[in-house]
Amino acid sequence: MTTLTIPKWFDAHTHVRQGGLIEPIVKSQIDMGCYAILAMPNTKPPVGKVRDADDGDMWSIEHYRDLIMNAGGDQLSHLVTPLYLTKDTSAKMIVDGAKSGLLTNIKYYPPHGTTNADFGIPMEEFLKSDLPKAMSDNGVILNIHGEEHGLKATSYFDRETNAEEIFYTERMPKLVEAFPDLKIVCEHITTKVATDFVLNTNDNVSATITPQHLLYTVGDLILGLKYHLFCLPVVKFDADRQALRNAVTTPSQTKFFAGTDSAAHTEKCTPCGCAAGCFTGGIAPQLYAQAFEEAGLDLSRVDHELMFKNFLCHNAPDFYGIERSSETFTLSKTPQTISKIPTAEGEITPLPLGMGMDTIPWSIAE
Ligand code: NCD
Ligand code: ZN
Repeated sequence: MTTLTIPKWFDAHTHVRQGGLIEPIVKSQIDMGCYAILAMPNTKPPVGKVRDADDGDMWSIEHYRDLIMNAGGDQLSHLVTPLYLTKDTSAKMIVDGAKSGLLTNIKYYPPHGTTNADFGIPMEEFLKSDLPKAMSDNGVILNIHGEEHGLKATSYFDRETNAEEIFYTERMPKLVEAFPDLKIVCEHITTKVATDFVLNTNDNVSATITPQHLLYTVGDLILGLKYHLFCLPVVKFDADRQALRNAVTTPSQTKFFAGTDSAAHTEKCTPCGCAAGCFTGGIAPQLYAQAFEEAGLDLSRVDHELMFKNFLCHNAPDFYGIERSSETFTLSKTPQTISKIPTAEGEITPLPLGMGMDTIPWSIAE
């Protein structure tokens, strides 16, 4: 039986939500070996200001950090809490926020692009504003949900094109060219086009990749309409998955790292559509290990284990300038049964269960 004792890891993209969800979700992050998390700001209301005392009705970074800390987040060594980029974000907020130490990251959401993304601004507006320069000058990292917004269905997702490819072809080159010193994380990339963009651009640009995008393709979503696999950006084609797998299994690669985008929904399927987001809390390292094996790696080999550790444990803290963890946890190739997670706000269904599987090949040793 293969066992991997590896450093605790930084989930560089997750959603810990709010209310009765926050405590079980934070626990699921800690249970799966996280010593650090980046908690996305698409709460209701969004985390759109820095301090509580600042103007406006949105939540502050200060407030959201308190909520997470009080829900068990105080057991983490690092908590990264980006500001939601809205029409109210100003260069002064960025300069002051960075000075105070509270503002380290800003999240770009395409307007109306995904769950609670109704506050995002168009990328061309951001590019023309004084915000990217303020971020670049003050060392604030930009986390990007890279999908073009407002597209008609045939450009949004079709054989030769989709919203992510358009974004990485038309928007990102301009941003990186204009602000080469700006540190950017391309979140949850799903296509070969985005992967190639990250590979071929400067070292201030990196990317997170989710378990679902390494494991599945759009065929898995459509076969039986497995709506628990519906997340944004949507899973793509085999060639795209292969590009992601090649990227993460390249020896010594430093640009690609784990960010689960675990995003719980207690009501996934509604009468008028399906909420976007896959929940992988508690099981993401197990799913990543499964994906690395499906990509052809033998995790009992030292060189292959190192590729896995680079992706899961090393690259994200290195890019963020956070110390790697000196603590470890152990993954073992022993099947694990999974079940729904009860919360005060209803049950959450982990992704494999939603795919019709109540067992996964890897588990975390006690
Ligand atoms: C996320 C969510 O539910 O908050 N959903 C998703 O499909 N990834 C939002 C997001 O990260 O886009
Ligand atoms: Zn997300």
